[in-house]
Amino acid sequence: MAKDSLTVTDNRTGRSYEMPINQGAVRAIDFREIKVDEKDFGLLVYDPGFTNTASCRSAITRIDGEAGILEYRGYPIEQLAEKSTYLETAYLLIHGELPTQRQMDDWREEIKFHTYLHENAKKFMEGFQYDAHPMGMLVGTVAGMSTFYRDSKAVMDPASRHDQIVRLIAKMPTIAAFAYRHNQGKPYVYPDNSLSYPGNFLSMLWKMSEPKYEPDPVLQRAMDVLWILHADHEQNCSTNAMRSVGSAHVDPYSATAAAAAGLYGPRHGGANEEVINMLLRIGNKGAIPEFLKGVRAGDERLIGFGHRVYKSYDPRARIIKQTADEVFDLVGHNQLLDIALELEHIALEDEYFIEHKLYPNVDFYSGIIYQALGFPVGMFPVLFAIPRTSGWLAQWVEMLTDEDQRIARPRQIFQGSGTRDYQPIEKRR
Ligand code: CMC
Repeated sequence: MAKDSLTVTDNRTGRSYEMPINQGAVRAIDFREIKVDEKDFGLLVYDPGFTNTASCRSAITRIDGEAGILEYRGYPIEQLAEKSTYLETAYLLIHGELPTQRQMDDWREEIKFHTYLHENAKKFMEGFQYDAHPMGMLVGTVAGMSTFYRDSKAVMDPASRHDQIVRLIAKMPTIAAFAYRHNQGKPYVYPDNSLSYPGNFLSMLWKMSEPKYEPDPVLQRAMDVLWILHADHEQNCSTNAMRSVGSAHVDPYSATAAAAAGLYGPRHGGANEEVINMLLRIGNKGAIPEFLKGVRAGDERLIGFGHRVYKSYDPRARIIKQTADEVFDLVGHNQLLDIALELEHIALEDEYFIEHKLYPNVDFYSGIIYQALGFPVGMFPVLFAIPRTSGWLAQWVEMLTDEDQRIARPRQIFQGSGTRDYQPIEKRR
């Protein structure tokens, strides 16, 4: 009869070991039993980039990369993008269930109550150089928030955790908008709590002398949809940073700053900025074949294509393309969109991309939408960090409350020098 176990034979010793298989996984620690002799440390599992290592059990987000499926707490991303709001999706991620009307009203009120930044945090932001990268301002300010909320150190206290979660989700758009206004040399606009979560963000970005900013409903909805799509994506680089740094039981502001720093990189949330740079460099549709020749030769990458997990179309890219149509109908056509559409069309029929299972990812179109809305490229990862905050926090709580979790501390295979004696400087060659 089939057994849920794995038998491994160590050919160095001829010994066999049986390890249980649970939920399609063996425990890496079971390999430590495999030893040549009693002094042996035991077999390690080598996995740079964690390509085949599950670092946790999670009930938050499910991705089926082959089938192009993304679900938050069991709800397909397509349904959430069509029917939910970002704030409701954030509630779902954090609490595990969609809210009742009463719970939603309370959640909205709680978030609104915390949208203002402490005036000293505002002053702190004012100290940045006029052309500081907005992501650097966001990372620095979020880390600085731990100095304002000392109660945040009580990470094992559910009530304290809840307070910090609300503060972070509420203040992220405010920090992002202040960073934007700072770059523009414009006065910061305080939150307008009579507006929706995305509407208030647009007001803090674009309000000038008018007594009340009226956000365009299409732009407001586009922002909400983009934020739903970006809210969580299971164990990606920044989420792994959140869990890893959080596993030291540091406060959530410090852990969120670390996660946001991970998101900043061009291989992660910085990719949408790189997409725009790439499209500008290509310049026109006629130059696409030559550009793709370079990609095929391995000289560069087609940014916005490829994903560690999705080996078919990224479901978020499909939805975002629809949002792009709605935004472009409103703000007018953009040459970069034409180049992107043509690039996608050619790449999807190209043997190299088919063979390597490279399809557009969420960032292929998000940058083009952000640019059409008037955001400078430096704001793109910031716009990603706002919604991903709810995903990071949901994962953080799950990590803290999982009895299996310990401080993140990988092993290494040491390949440096053997033991040697210290030489005084005059004796060194
Ligand atoms: N253009 C051309 N070739 C590519 C690309 C690309 N965008 N992505 C992967 N490849 C090739 C790569 O050269 C390699 O080929 P070979 O096997 O012949 O050497 C093969 O595909 C596997 O690549 P990999 O780098 O081992 O794959 P990975 O899973 O480690 O990397 C990735 C995933 C997203 C970093 C990568 O696809 C990439 O660099 N894409 C461009 C950057 C990008 O769009 N990033 C946004 C990711 S989605 C948003 C997010 O989650 O943050």
